[in-house]
Amino acid sequence: MCGIVGILGRGPVAAQVVDALKRLEYRGYDSAGVATLDGGRLDRRRAEGKLRNLEEKLAVTPLAGASGIGHTRWATHGRPNETNAHPHATARIAVVHNGIIENFRELKAELVADGAYFESETDTEVVAQLVSRELERGRSPAEAVATVLPRLKGAFALAFLFTGEDDLMIGARHGAPLAVGYGQGEMYLGSDALALAPFTDSITYLDDGDWAVLTRAGATIHDHGGGVVTRPRQQIAQSAFIADKGNHRHFMAKEIHEQPEVVGRTIAHYVDLATGRVKLPTALPFDFAKLRRLVISSCGTAYYAGLVAKYWFERLARLAVDIDVASEFRYREMPLDEGELALFISQSGETADTLASLRYAKGEKQHILSIVNVPTSTIARESDVVMPTLAGPEIGVASTKAFTCQLAVLLALAIAAGRARGTLSEAEEQRLVASLVAVPGAMADSLSSEREIEHLARELAKARDVLYLGRGPAFPLALEGALKLKEISYIHAEGYAAGELKHGPIALIDEAMPVIVLAPHDAVFDKTVSNVQEVAARGGKIILIGEERAVEEAGVATFAAIGMPALDPVIAPIVYAVPVQLLAYHTAVVMGKDVDQPRNLAKSVTVE
Ligand code: AGP
Repeated sequence: MCGIVGILGRGPVAAQVVDALKRLEYRGYDSAGVATLDGGRLDRRRAEGKLRNLEEKLAVTPLAGASGIGHTRWATHGRPNETNAHPHATARIAVVHNGIIENFRELKAELVADGAYFESETDTEVVAQLVSRELERGRSPAEAVATVLPRLKGAFALAFLFTGEDDLMIGARHGAPLAVGYGQGEMYLGSDALALAPFTDSITYLDDGDWAVLTRAGATIHDHGGGVVTRPRQQIAQSAFIADKGNHRHFMAKEIHEQPEVVGRTIAHYVDLATGRVKLPTALPFDFAKLRRLVISSCGTAYYAGLVAKYWFERLARLAVDIDVASEFRYREMPLDEGELALFISQSGETADTLASLRYAKGEKQHILSIVNVPTSTIARESDVVMPTLAGPEIGVASTKAFTCQLAVLLALAIAAGRARGTLSEAEEQRLVASLVAVPGAMADSLSSEREIEHLARELAKARDVLYLGRGPAFPLALEGALKLKEISYIHAEGYAAGELKHGPIALIDEAMPVIVLAPHDAVFDKTVSNVQEVAARGGKIILIGEERAVEEAGVATFAAIGMPALDPVIAPIVYAVPVQLLAYHTAVVMGKDVDQPRNLAKSVTVE
C-alpha cells in the first residue's frame, strides 16, 4: 500500500522526506515523489521505481524549501510510471494520497466538462483538481478541503501543500491511517508512527473522517462534521516501532482497522478501476468456460471464506462447487475428473492439511489455484496459479484482514468466471466490480460502530454459550463469527444456518443465550427475520447486525442492534465481517484474554 509523509520544518526538508519514505518501503511501492514549498512556490520531483531513483534526481536538481510532502506509490489507478507518481499538483496545490477514490470517474468527468486538463490516469489527480477549483472560487485552503472531502467516496488518506502558504499543511483520513507528529517548532504527517520515528515519538492518530490543519505552531483537528475535536496525543515507545502495533493494544485490533486499506489494495490488484472490469494478475492455464465443477478445500477461517465463495461461484458463474475442510478432504479420496480446477485458500500457505489436500488434487491431475497471503509459501510454490492477498503480515492468531482479503479475491475470481462462462454481461460485471470497489469505504463506515460494540461486549463476556445465525452467504459468516469468539474468548459459540434453528438448536434458546443474527438486506432477509421472531418468541437475547431499516422491519424486540451501512448484498459477507471481528475482539479484551496469542493455538498449523 502507499506511504505518505509531510514535514513543516525549520530547514530544507526534501532529504528528510525521502528518509522518512524509506521507513515506509515495507509497504511495497513502484514509484515515489516529493513536493516542497520554497518562498511560496511549489515544485516537485518524481521517479519510477525505487527511492534511489528519486534521490538521484534530487541530487541533480535539488528541491529547496522547508515544507514538503512525499509519497511511495503502490499503483492502483494507472501504470507505475513518473506521470502517475505522486505528488499530483496544479498551480495552486500538491497532494499525496493512499487508498482508492471509488467515484473518481464521475468526478473526473465533471472536472473535464468544467475545462480541467489531466496529465495522469490517477484518481488522486481528481482530488488535486477539485481542491484547486475551490481555491479558484475564492475559498481558503481549509475551506476548500472541507468542501471537497464529503464528495470523495472510498478509503483514503491525503496530505496537501498550498502555493503561497509556507506554514500550512492539511491532512485527511477516511479508512487509511494517518498520524500527526509533534516536533520542536516542526510538525509532521505520516501513514504511521514508523515513518515519523526519526523526528518525533509524540503522535496523534486521526480518526476516520478527521482532517487536520497543521502549522509549525501545532494542529487543529476537525471531525467529519467540521467541528474542532481533540484526539489523544501519545508518546509512542521506541519498542512499539519494532512491534509496530501502531496505536493499538493488540495486533488483532490493528489488523481489523487495517482492513479498509489492505482490502482496497487487494481489490486494486484484481480490478481495472478505469474500465470497471476484473483484471486477473496472471493468465489462467484453464478455461472457466470448460469447467464442470470447482473443488475448494482449506481450514478454519480460510474454509469459511471458501464457503462464502461457493455462493458466489454458483450464483454468478453457474459453476457447481464442492467444498470440504482440508482435514477431511485429504482422506476422502474424492473422485476427480482430470483437468478440472481445485482451489486452496490459506493465509500462511503452510497449513499441513491444506497442503496435503493440494497434493491429493494434484495427483488427480487437477489445475491447482491457491489464494495465499505469503507468496513464497509451500502452498504457493506447489500451485499452478497463485492469487495473492495483499493483507500484509497478519500477526494476530485470529485471522481478520486475511479473511476479508481472501473474500475480495474470491469475489473477483467468481466475477471473472461468470464473464468467461457467459453468465455475466459486461454491464453486470461492471456493476459487481463497482460494488466490490465500494467495500473499503463500507468497511471504514462499519468501523464507526466500534464504541457500541465495545459496550455490547461487556454483556457478551457474561455468556456461557452464544449462537450465531445467518442465511445464504451470511451463514458461513455466522460460522466465522462463532470461531472468532470461541478462539480468543474461550466462550462456547456455534454458527448455524438460520433455517436450521427449528431442527434442534432452538431448544437452546433462553434468556441467557445471546443469539447474534447476521441480517444483510438480501433476498432471504425476510426468512431471516422469521427466524429472529422464533428466537424472540422464546425470550432469546437477540443481537441483530443489519442495516438500520432492517431493525425497524424486523419489528422484534432486540437486546441490541449493530447498524450497518446500506450496501449491495453481494459484498455483505466481506463488510459484515468487521462487526463480527470487533465483537469477538472486545469480548476477549473485557475477559482479559491473551488476544493475539490465545491458548492452545498457533498462527500456522503445520502439523496434522
Ligand atoms: C482463524 O482465526 C484461525 N487462526 C485458524 O482457523 C486459521 O484460519 C486456519 O488454521 C487456517 O490457517 P491458514 O489460513 O494459514 O491456512
